[in-house]
Amino acid sequence: MSSPSRSGAFEQAVDQRVEKFSESVSFDWQLYRQDIRGSIAHARMLAQQGLISESESQAIVGGLRDILAEIEAGKFQFQQHLEDVHMNIEHALIERLGDVGRKLHTARSRNDQVATDLRLWVRDAIDSIDAQLRELQSAFIERCDHDQGVILPAYTHLRRAQPVLAAHYWLAYCEKFERDRERLADCRRRANVNSLGIAAVAGTTLPIDRRFTAEQLGFVDVARNSLDVSSDRDFALELVFCLSLIGVHLSGWAEEWILWSTTEFDFLDLPHGFCTGSSIMPQKINPDVLELTRGKAARVIGNLQTLLVLVKGLPLAYNRDLQEDKPPLFDAAKTISECLDVAVPLVRQARLKPQSISARLDQGFLDATTLMEALIKRGIPQRTAHHFVGELVREATCRGLRLADLPIEEFQKISPNLDHSIYDELGVQGAIEAFVSEGSTAPKRVSEQIAAWRARLGN
Ligand code: ARG
Repeated sequence: MSSPSRSGAFEQAVDQRVEKFSESVSFDWQLYRQDIRGSIAHARMLAQQGLISESESQAIVGGLRDILAEIEAGKFQFQQHLEDVHMNIEHALIERLGDVGRKLHTARSRNDQVATDLRLWVRDAIDSIDAQLRELQSAFIERCDHDQGVILPAYTHLRRAQPVLAAHYWLAYCEKFERDRERLADCRRRANVNSLGIAAVAGTTLPIDRRFTAEQLGFVDVARNSLDVSSDRDFALELVFCLSLIGVHLSGWAEEWILWSTTEFDFLDLPHGFCTGSSIMPQKINPDVLELTRGKAARVIGNLQTLLVLVKGLPLAYNRDLQEDKPPLFDAAKTISECLDVAVPLVRQARLKPQSISARLDQGFLDATTLMEALIKRGIPQRTAHHFVGELVREATCRGLRLADLPIEEFQKISPNLDHSIYDELGVQGAIEAFVSEGSTAPKRVSEQIAAWRARLGN
């Protein structure tokens, strides 16, 4: 059977190889909800504008709703020779309604139809990823209660740097995911404009009302230029960029927790429901979920690359190349959604090992910078204090001591006025309590931030 998009102008039936090569229904069927939603809005608009009658519009809307129910029930047969989701649904409508069904495509092209479907799909995807990110933030905030008072080393260059509260780590992740949510919201704003009604490329001579369909579909505005909008896939690329960055953030977290759960670090127990075994080494409890999270970011970044290269150099306006936008877009959203799906329970169920952590917190001179600042507070210039504390670290290392174990005479080498109050800021606990600056790991600052996050997340 020949495709409904082939008009009377063709002298030859489509080659079977072309039919298989050019179909998109095998993946764009996933747009069926958005496609039907767009068509219902379009049919209502056509009736409002007198382009079809009210009863015709009602028949079309009813038919489309029946088709939707059939698809949801798994009873609808998508057919390859009908090319894409748009023509499959329209064809089913025509089979039901005859000539009335043939009126739905008035003042519309698949070019504006697919752009509209994609915008609706991107909007839905953003809303559901945003909800998952919010859940993940909540899981980190819950951890702040659970891990109250636990101190961890902060690293730079993956070398021990300064002590921080465990909650400070969890809040750091909340910040990253908050920026991801802001980026999604920003992307949503640009996706949320109506492309329906630009028809093929130049608009239509028929008296349509694009504001009406915009309102029906919840779009906040109407795309201004028909040439631009039929080629515009920026919103899809932006979403996949946002998803790539979410993947990058998740991969950093995954890497950190893989390290922390090693015998070498021994900071963290991963829930066994989220670990896998080895088929040969019976002792192995592997962090595959985290490794896959780290790995899947690569796929999403690859999808972004695919999309950028796809649209590069395309002349205005619609080109069939754009059909290739859907697999990478769908895959990126699905992949990140699946990563978030396992990340949330993993964050909730993993357990820090405070004893194992605190047993080794004294190693690595985490309080050295605090000591330097204590000297600055006592009038010693920063460069001098920096050099001197370095000497103390060398001395303590040689003697196998912590800074807090050095006798007062060692400190008095830099200034005879130094007294025992210097010890108050030594040791990780003293160091943590000495912090004051906004955004620091000072317990008071951290508590304020936890409260602010609770209020923001409604936890
Ligand atoms: N399946 C097509 C796509 O995804 C729909 C638009 C086709 N338009 C056309 N004039 N061939 O891009």
